Amino acid sequence: MGQLDGKVAFITGAARGQGRCHAIELARSGASIIALDICSQIDTVAYRMSTPEDLDETVRLVEEVGGKIVASQADVRDRAQVETALARGVEVFGQPDIVLANAGISPQRASEPDPQAVFVDTIETNLIGVWNTVIAAAPAMIERGQGGSIVITSSAQGIIGRGGDGSGAATAYTASKHGVVGMMRSFSAWLAPHSIRVNTVNPTGVRTPMVENDAIAEWFAANPTVAATMGNPMPVFMVDPIDVTRAVLYLVGESGRYVTGVVLPVDAGFTSK
Ligand SMILES: NC(=O)c1ccc[n+]([C@@H]2O[C@H](COP(=O)([O-])OP(=O)(O)OC[C@H]3O[C@@H](n4cnc5c(N)ncnc54)[C@H](O)[C@@H]3O)[C@@H](O)[C@H]2O)c1
Repeated sequence: MGQLDGKVAFITGAARGQGRCHAIELARSGASIIALDICSQIDTVAYRMSTPEDLDETVRLVEEVGGKIVASQADVRDRAQVETALARGVEVFGQPDIVLANAGISPQRASEPDPQAVFVDTIETNLIGVWNTVIAAAPAMIERGQGGSIVITSSAQGIIGRGGDGSGAATAYTASKHGVVGMMRSFSAWLAPHSIRVNTVNPTGVRTPMVENDAIAEWFAANPTVAATMGNPMPVFMVDPIDVTRAVLYLVGESGRYVTGVVLPVDAGFTSK
C-alpha cells in the first residue's frame, strides 16, 4: 500500500528534472499521474529544453515502478493547452487530488540579445504558467469537495534576490519566483475552507539541465561577483531532484494534512546565510 493510493496528481514540467522525479516517486507511492511538458524550445532560452523523447522516458520510468500516466505536450503559457492536457488525464483517472505547478525556465546567460523578450517569456512561463495550472484544476477540486494539495515550485530566489545583475532573465526569474509565493498565499486563503492546501517549495540549485549547462556556466564566468554569492552554507554544491521530491511528498501526503500557506526552503541554508 502506498501513501498516495487512489490519488491523482497533475504535474507540469514532467519531461525531465524535478518534474520527472516527482512523477516517478508519486507514482511509486500509488498516485496516477497526469503529466504535461512543452517538449520544445522557447527562443529566449539558451540551454536545451525538453523533447518529446524526454517525456516518453518519464512515461517509461513511471510505468517501470508500476504507475499509470497520461502525458501530453502542452505549454503552460497557454491556458487552453493546459486545460486540454488536464482533461485528457481526467478522462482516464478522474479529477486531481494533487497539483504540482513545477514547469519553469531560468534563461540567464552572459549576453542577452533581447532582455525585454526574455523578461516577458520568463514571467509568462514561471508566473502566468502557475496561474494557468492552478486555475485549470482548482474549481473542479472545489466542486468535488474532497480537498487536495497544491505545491508550487518557487526557488530560493523566491525568498532573496542574490545574484541580481539587472538582466532580463535574472530579474524576471527572481520576480516570478517571489510572485508565485504571493500567488500561493492568495490561493491558500481562497482554498483553505475547501481543505485544499497550497504551499511552495523553494530549492537552492538543483542538479538538473536547467542549471547544468554552458549558458549558466558562461553567465557565472562573465559575472564573478554573482557566482561568488551562489554557494550553500551546508557542504553541498547542489541538491538532487529527490531532495525536493521528498519535501513535496511530505506536503502532499498525510504528513502535511494541516500544512498550508507555507514557504518551504530546500536550500542547504542558502536563504539563511
Ligand atoms: N534546477 C534548479 O537549480 C532550480 C532551483 C530552484 C527552483 N527551480 C525550479 O524548479 C522547477 C523545475 O526545474 P528543473 O530544475 O527540473 O529544470 P528542467 O529544465 O530540467 O525542467 C523544467 C521542465 O519544465 C518544462 N517547461 C519549461 N517551460 C515550459 C512551458 N512553458 N510549458 C510547459 N513546460 C515547460 C521544461 O521543458 C522542462 O522539462 C522550475 O520551476 C525551476 O524554476 C530549479
